[in-house]
Amino acid sequence: MKKILFITALFFNQVASNAQQVNTLNLMPVPKHVLLIDAKSRITNKFTVLVEGIENDTVLYKAVNRAYQALNRKTGLVFGQQYITTVDKTDSASLLVVVKTKSNAGIGVDESYSLKVNEKHITLNAPNTIGALRGLQTLLQLAEKDDNGYYFPCVTIDDSPRFKWRGLMIDVARHFISYEEMKRNIDAMAVVKMNVLHWHLTDDEGFRVESKVFPLLQQKGSNGDYYTQAQLKELVRYAEDRGIIIMPEFDMPGHAQSWFAGYPELASQPGPYRPGSRMQWQKEHPELKIPQSTSIADIVANMVAPTFDPTNEKVYNFLDKFVGEMATIFPAGYMHIGADENNGMAWKLNPAIMAWMKHHQMQNTDDLQRYFVQRVYGILKKHHRQLVGWEEIYNDKLPADAIVHKWIPTDSGMIKSYGKASDIAMHNPVLISEGFYLDIFLPAYIHYNNAAFAEANIPNILGGEAAQWTELADNNNIDGRIWPRAGAVAERLWSPASVRDVDDMYHRLFLLSDQLDEQGLNNISNYERALRLLTNGGSTLHLQTLTDVLTTVKGYRKLMAAMFKPGQPVYQTTPLTAVSDIVSVDSETKRKFRALVKLYLEKHDKNTEDTIRACLVTWQQNDGYLKPLFAGNKRLKEIEDHSKNLSAAAAIGLEALDRMDKSTPNDAAWLKQQSDALSAFKKAHNETEIAVIPEIEALVLQHIIAEPTSYPAF
Ligand code: ACM
Repeated sequence: MKKILFITALFFNQVASNAQQVNTLNLMPVPKHVLLIDAKSRITNKFTVLVEGIENDTVLYKAVNRAYQALNRKTGLVFGQQYITTVDKTDSASLLVVVKTKSNAGIGVDESYSLKVNEKHITLNAPNTIGALRGLQTLLQLAEKDDNGYYFPCVTIDDSPRFKWRGLMIDVARHFISYEEMKRNIDAMAVVKMNVLHWHLTDDEGFRVESKVFPLLQQKGSNGDYYTQAQLKELVRYAEDRGIIIMPEFDMPGHAQSWFAGYPELASQPGPYRPGSRMQWQKEHPELKIPQSTSIADIVANMVAPTFDPTNEKVYNFLDKFVGEMATIFPAGYMHIGADENNGMAWKLNPAIMAWMKHHQMQNTDDLQRYFVQRVYGILKKHHRQLVGWEEIYNDKLPADAIVHKWIPTDSGMIKSYGKASDIAMHNPVLISEGFYLDIFLPAYIHYNNAAFAEANIPNILGGEAAQWTELADNNNIDGRIWPRAGAVAERLWSPASVRDVDDMYHRLFLLSDQLDEQGLNNISNYERALRLLTNGGSTLHLQTLTDVLTTVKGYRKLMAAMFKPGQPVYQTTPLTAVSDIVSVDSETKRKFRALVKLYLEKHDKNTEDTIRACLVTWQQNDGYLKPLFAGNKRLKEIEDHSKNLSAAAAIGLEALDRMDKSTPNDAAWLKQQSDALSAFKKAHNETEIAVIPEIEALVLQHIIAEPTSYPAF
């Protein structure tokens, strides 16, 4: 247990229970209706389960057995039932699971369930398999412990999702994410009732699926890191067992360099190609005479990126065979074709393509992109797949069943948005990832309050997806990048819109983090392992006191810094071991400290003040302990300033408490001096920032400061 958290845990729980307006218990996502009864259903080693389901519903029986063993493991009670099967007819079971019909994972299947826990007996009722899977996850989250052991609070829950599409997108091209890691993420998705894994399998940097029809795709289009067809099929089954479908994404016509490493004839510019970033490719082609710029607006407008040649019939023959092959591996009815960020430059620089466009009376490259999407739409139709594409597919001629995946902030200014989700939904089904990009290092409450979702009660808005691009995430830090924040997105997509208490959400989010850790996700252990790497195996105690209150700088600043380093970007070879790669995006300590400061400023009670003082004294003294660690340690030197600043900020906080104790009025000169100092401490250094400065500032100002409702992206 982390030291500061240990001090604050007791008080935080008290704060959190004050904040709860509804019976959210420890549940994430919060169910639609919860009725809490003041009683407990004790879990003993006699805990047994009886399933009344369809005989051959293997997905159901496997899920019940997994849940039973998860509870067995959590409680350590050594349950007596070995396997729960159709022939396992236990009399008077502790848990009765009743399922009327067998169903598979899919969009729009009934996911509802009801759960009744009373002191003697628990019943989980669901119209079909998938609802039962969701209910089992709720039951597992309900298990709590008191001095007498584990118990379920007595409740009646009726639940069903607000949106039918609740996804997580993972990019495995920039950094390859291993097969095992994908399984762990699928497990985590199941906990928060997500139902679509959107797998971004190809991009400039890597082609990550095995094709037997076109083997050069993975052989030349990757560094050897790709999933075999056997692994892909196994992951599809693994996800379906958890009520999750997999939607593959094969990005085209842009973001396609890795396709061309083996098949350069498909591209708009002559080869050779190798997998790598588009910026790297452009640097290697000075003959294209593209002005070099570090302005994102310039890059978006002028970059020449490897792009399919839509005027070449061989492209469509190739895609037809490829899509046909992939359709045998990914049975769900959806395929994502990307189609994002194609500025048409690769086409404009090819005279034959320009002549073809003229011949076909096309006005501009947008028309050509439209033509390409239309042709690919036809190929997907032939293979019984519904087309999904990023919002760049959207135009007034797009077939009505193509799903538009919104990602560009409508007020971005940097890149043209294709319209508000509600406007696009007048014509096409819409998925929303705008405001759900986990890779831009924003705290969970920003995603939770996603404005793009406020008005989303329109039938054609299917739901949304949290998105994790992996320029700055790899196998060693991705779990902590996605989780627990994706839980806040999952709740926005599952729970009623009225569930929006941020303090309560954070309380449950960190419980979720512990739950995921408990079941094998590396969200916490990766961080602790990375700290040991930074201390060369030495004690991490004092380092962690500091890093627990550091967060990665918000927005794209870290990505920009990585992109414009000399020789960059080569994502695969940059170790993600800097402090900014390993600290969390949402500091749990900050959240707990914030709750304490809020409580203290309301109540001015001695217990809370003592706890705040204990935190501040620890932070004030920590720099002294850390000094020897900074000497000669390049990666740690990056946070030396933060260590000093945290110490100085803590001293200001202690002085503010002294002044409140003595009722010393805050004179203007003192206030200005402290505010100036704290403003300086808020600044990011080496892509990290101290998360607790606003709370220390609140002690100086004697009122809590509302958090920003947004952060600049750049
Ligand atoms: C995207 O972020 N280019 C969809």
